[in-house]
Amino acid sequence: MLVIDTISELQKVLVDERSKGKCIGLVPTMGALHQGHASLVRRSVAENDITVVSIFLNPTQFNDPKDLERYPRTLEEDCRILEECGAQIAFAPCVKEMYPEPDTRQFSYPPTDVVMEGARRPGHFNGVCQIVSKLFQITDPDNAYFGEKDYQQIAVICRMVEDLGFKVNIIPCPVIREESGLAMSSRNTLLTPEEKEIAPKIYQILKQSTTLQLSIAETQKWVIDEINKVEGLDVEYYSIVDGNTLADINNWEDAPNVVGCITVYCGKTPIRLIDHIRYK
Ligand code: PAJ
Repeated sequence: MLVIDTISELQKVLVDERSKGKCIGLVPTMGALHQGHASLVRRSVAENDITVVSIFLNPTQFNDPKDLERYPRTLEEDCRILEECGAQIAFAPCVKEMYPEPDTRQFSYPPTDVVMEGARRPGHFNGVCQIVSKLFQITDPDNAYFGEKDYQQIAVICRMVEDLGFKVNIIPCPVIREESGLAMSSRNTLLTPEEKEIAPKIYQILKQSTTLQLSIAETQKWVIDEINKVEGLDVEYYSIVDGNTLADINNWEDAPNVVGCITVYCGKTPIRLIDHIRYK
């Protein structure tokens, strides 16, 4: 596997591969890789000739400097995982390489980027669009792989692709979970053993909520109450929305796909965990 840290070197390699008619898959990540990321990489390796995995802890999408500071950094181990998955290229640039000047571009795709995470993390999706658009411009991939773990992120990126006319297929990939049901996340390594015991309750309660015969408002309230009953868990929001537009809905019949998106604070630090469940 090639490990590349400059844009010019990456482009040189990709121009060469493309001239041979090779198909390019891109998997954007921020490192601290786990089996959730690996599932995206394996899928890309299976569906493309060349898989580029970017490892870049993107500062512009962190609205909380403490969150950025404590984000795990594990480049050597990341490269080992990528080798194992069969990726051809790891692209791990420094901040100056990706942002030689501050990025002043503004992206706006309401309602996808202003509800839920967008409302609680100002600038977050703008930062995601800044880095993902740069990665698309640099690599010009045929296919790009994103996890449904970050359900809202995919909706925002699809809007950006449509808006800017990128010729890339966005491939959404299912959430990979621990045996306990907890969605795998780089932030899980920050959980204490006690927090690891309670965090899986989030998905258990979400799953249970799909079996209730309640209205949307009642289901939302039920989920929030049940999770808040668990000591150490504190729901920031739970929204049941149109699974395509992410707009709020009042009735189960209001949209063809209905998804519930949640953010929960876990433990004393606290660690912010996100998850979602599909109702239909
Ligand atoms: P990061 O959190 O590193 O995630 C990289 C990709 O892996 C995302 O598409 C995310 O949804 C996916 N992923 C993470 N955990 C997963 C799991 N348990 N199952 C399936 N997929 C999972 O998301 C980002 O980075 C950044 O915002 C990025 C898109 C790289 C832009 O900086």
